Amino acid sequence: MRANGNVKNSWRDTRAAQLLGIKFPILQAPFGGFPSQPLTATVSNLGGLGSLGAVMLGGSAIQEAVGELHTLTDAPFAINLWVSNSDLATTQINAETIEQRIRAFAQYYAELGIEPPLTVEAKVQKFETQVRAVIDARTPILSFIYGIPPLEILEECRKQEIKTIGTATTSEEAIALEQAGLDLIVASGFEGGGHRASFLRPAAESLMGGLSLIPQVVDAVQIPVIAAGGISDGRGLVAAMVLGAEAVQVGTAFLICAGSGANKTYRAALQSEAGRHTQLTDAFTGRLSRGIQNSLMDRLGESSTPPLPFPLQHALIQTLTGPASAQAKADWMTIWAGQSAALCQYSEAGKVMAEMIATADSFFS
Ligand SMILES: Cc1cc2nc3c(=O)[nH]c(=O)nc-3n(C[C@H](O)[C@H](O)[C@H](O)COP(=O)(O)O)c2cc1C
Repeated sequence: MRANGNVKNSWRDTRAAQLLGIKFPILQAPFGGFPSQPLTATVSNLGGLGSLGAVMLGGSAIQEAVGELHTLTDAPFAINLWVSNSDLATTQINAETIEQRIRAFAQYYAELGIEPPLTVEAKVQKFETQVRAVIDARTPILSFIYGIPPLEILEECRKQEIKTIGTATTSEEAIALEQAGLDLIVASGFEGGGHRASFLRPAAESLMGGLSLIPQVVDAVQIPVIAAGGISDGRGLVAAMVLGAEAVQVGTAFLICAGSGANKTYRAALQSEAGRHTQLTDAFTGRLSRGIQNSLMDRLGESSTPPLPFPLQHALIQTLTGPASAQAKADWMTIWAGQSAALCQYSEAGKVMAEMIATADSFFS
């Protein structure tokens, strides 16, 4: 068993903080689809690690974003990519199937007062192009979900002194990531908002909560573990460190903050009564993800037709959620959120960080 024996006096100065070159072992989670350079830079400037979710960005957009981040902060930051960003079955879906799905949504388009689209296309960025852009742009830290990046990419990162973070939803995945040579591992508990990025077994068979997952991953690998999922205040940070984590990755609590990529309606929903009720569903994107239970989730859940593969289902659902977001109709949006949304108290990143630091300082003093 590997517990954090010396956490008492050194919760700030963990191996994770040293490797990442940060003052406080607190990471702002990447938000694919909601990238915000200002929020990323704010958290890095506060002494944590800001991350930018770049799954939707092409090579030149990534170069631009990293360039902007270098102007906003001198501190380290991370860019996050999805190793697998498209399911193989996507290629087997023909135009007729897509048209059927659009026809099945006729009532929804009518309720939103919009015209149905003629068809739907999934825009998939090439992982190899994205990763090249990240490396060429002098990104200090590169984090990944949905798999193990190619070994030659990891080798190049080592040569360029780019630290790499992989994401595990089980201890088997953590071991595979360590063996591939990643520097740190996010142990992603099923409380977390957004996608469940399992890659060895199906996501539905990899649903472990943080209380069980964190110590099991800590026992399974030698490299530092970053706990993620449901950590929205200082108590969550303290608990994760006691379980052996050497840093935490915080999503929902930072997504609520000013400057995040989520719009006002989205942020208000996270802070409302609705934020107390989240569910895992594959109906939003074709891959299992956690979001607020709303009308859209319920109605999609009533359908007996299985979702299209990722990211086609996402593109299809966006024909509803895009207009719903413009109309400020939270009940028809995809509001990804973790189970601890109700614990989020602040709408400024500085306050989120300050509360976590003060709680940990006082607990571990
Ligand atoms: C809107 C949203 C988008 C996310 N996108 C990504 C992503 O692109 N890459 C990633 O590694 N994690 C992503 N995550 C998961 C976070 O990295 C993190 O593990 C999770 O938010 C932690 O749980 P919490 O929300 O309870 O704090 C996302 C989470 C949310 C809420």
